[in-house]
Amino acid sequence: MLYKKDFPIFKNNKQMVYLDSAATSQKPQVVVDAVNDFYTKNNSNIHRGLYDLAQRAEDLYEGTRKKVAEFINADSKNEIIFTGNTTESINLVTLRYFEKVLKKGDIVVISEMEHHSNIVPWLRLKEKLDIKIYYIPVTKDFLLDFDKLLKAGLDFKKVKLISLTHASNVLGTINPLEEIIPKLKSKFPNAKVLIDAAQSIPHIKVDVVNLQCDFLAFSSHKMFGPSGLGVLWAKTKLLNDMDPLFLGGHMIETVTKQKATFASSPQKFEAGTGKLEAVVGLGAAIDYINSLNIKNVQKYEDKLTKYALSKLPKIKNVQFYGSLSPKYRLPVFSFNIGSVHPHDASEILNRKQISVRAGHHCNQVLMEILNSPSGTIRASLSIYNTIDDIDKLIEGINMVKKIFKN
Ligand SMILES: Cc1ncc(COP(=O)(O)O)c(C=O)c1O
Repeated sequence: MLYKKDFPIFKNNKQMVYLDSAATSQKPQVVVDAVNDFYTKNNSNIHRGLYDLAQRAEDLYEGTRKKVAEFINADSKNEIIFTGNTTESINLVTLRYFEKVLKKGDIVVISEMEHHSNIVPWLRLKEKLDIKIYYIPVTKDFLLDFDKLLKAGLDFKKVKLISLTHASNVLGTINPLEEIIPKLKSKFPNAKVLIDAAQSIPHIKVDVVNLQCDFLAFSSHKMFGPSGLGVLWAKTKLLNDMDPLFLGGHMIETVTKQKATFASSPQKFEAGTGKLEAVVGLGAAIDYINSLNIKNVQKYEDKLTKYALSKLPKIKNVQFYGSLSPKYRLPVFSFNIGSVHPHDASEILNRKQISVRAGHHCNQVLMEILNSPSGTIRASLSIYNTIDDIDKLIEGINMVKKIFKN
């Protein structure tokens, strides 16, 4: 109950066991209040008005940009671009940086555990530019096989991008990127590094300096903030090299009948009116995480992970997809129950008010590796979950087994 009390949804759904935080997190009262306060006390457009209300709204909006920069240890708040979500952040980089710099035969390295949002944009560039994609394989222990990449004999000069998820939304694996990126950069010196931090950011410290990356993408809605808002961070030099995707108001320097010049980052990438209340809500979400201290979050979630790992994989007829070691792991658990279709299992669990996700989780490449074309059941936990929630999940699994005689 340590953290659950902070989240009003559980007061309104007393029996609910919410195990779908990898899809989206619940929102603490402080985030709900911040959005409400914005509309009831501070709502105005920004970067335009010279009146007090507009200034307050702008201070809140730009204040969040600063909070985000500090949260991920970025050099400057001007390196923080507000987008729609992780997907949009990755697409922006694909369309406005890599489409320009990649040439036929260049290699983009991704992995078999990527979410579709870090596969599909590169597949399009593959078709358009005739580039190659190398997938780092997933080992039998559900980790990435970086050795295989290092020994794959790729033409090191041609590897122009390594784009990896910090943590898997299916397996729960946290990739040890802080250790491996320096090795990858020395082996592939022409490669930029993009990190998809959609899953890691609400659970562990994400620090762009320690990660030694060039681009970082994440979503507000997975880190207790409002939906419809994402972040792209990139080094200033790279942002200077990138063209804007959308053109119009807010993002220009001057416009004449014949020519427009663009503002510098971040305005250059934020055409039109932004997601004002969502940005303010994200600021409150970051304050909330900071008030808990991410190390305490990790400690608490590690306890949940250890408990779940001591129980779930041991249930008879449960196929468990994920590392059994709590090291380098999020509280995200994928499994199947005998021959029961994951959708059927999820439906039965729902009868007990247990909310899990079932299907391919936007990871069809990984589902093929797992030999699980119908997908998996995924229970993904956050700080508001408890040991009791895991026990209820286990009861639910046993009920599924009984009904389907598995
Ligand atoms: C690892 C990972 N990357 C990217 C995404 C895409 O996030 P969004 O839908 O917020 O763009 C998700 C969403 O589940 C994810 O888990």
